[in-house]
Amino acid sequence: MWPPSSLALSVALSVALTAALPPPRPATPALHPIIANGSSVAVPYMGEAFLFCWVAEPTRQVQWRDPSHAPLPAWSPTASRYHLGSGKHLPHAYLLFRDFRQEHEGVYTCVARGGAGLEGSASVTLTLQRPSVPRP
Ligand SMILES: *[C@@H]1O[C@H](CO)[C@@H](O)[C@H](O)[C@H]1NC(C)=O
Repeated sequence: MWPPSSLALSVALSVALTAALPPPRPATPALHPIIANGSSVAVPYMGEAFLFCWVAEPTRQVQWRDPSHAPLPAWSPTASRYHLGSGKHLPHAYLLFRDFRQEHEGVYTCVARGGAGLEGSASVTLTLQRPSVPRP
């Protein structure tokens, strides 16, 4: 049997050691993409829009997703909405609309991926700008 003083010391020591442990790290620490245009943008009918997403943390890829969460196509002569600049190892991506229409309304998400499964996203709601009703 240990003398009572030694037992008290070992309990005190193990409490101190437990308290000194760093807090557990989250399983997938998040990246924090920033959409330069804020959380909602109204675009005029058949207007052009250019949205910019960037990430301050080290990032492998930044990608825009449409309201159904599908990746957007890269530029083509006929695409009315597409992304640019989301190549590997670039910390930013652009989302462009050539002729914004009602079917394009919705929540678009910018998804950033880094090493070791790091991920994060930000989103912006795009709406069709309604013509202002003239006041009498
Ligand atoms: C979004 O932000 C970028 C960068 O600041 C700017 O060039 C662009 O015109 C903005 N787009 C809209 C639709 O406001």
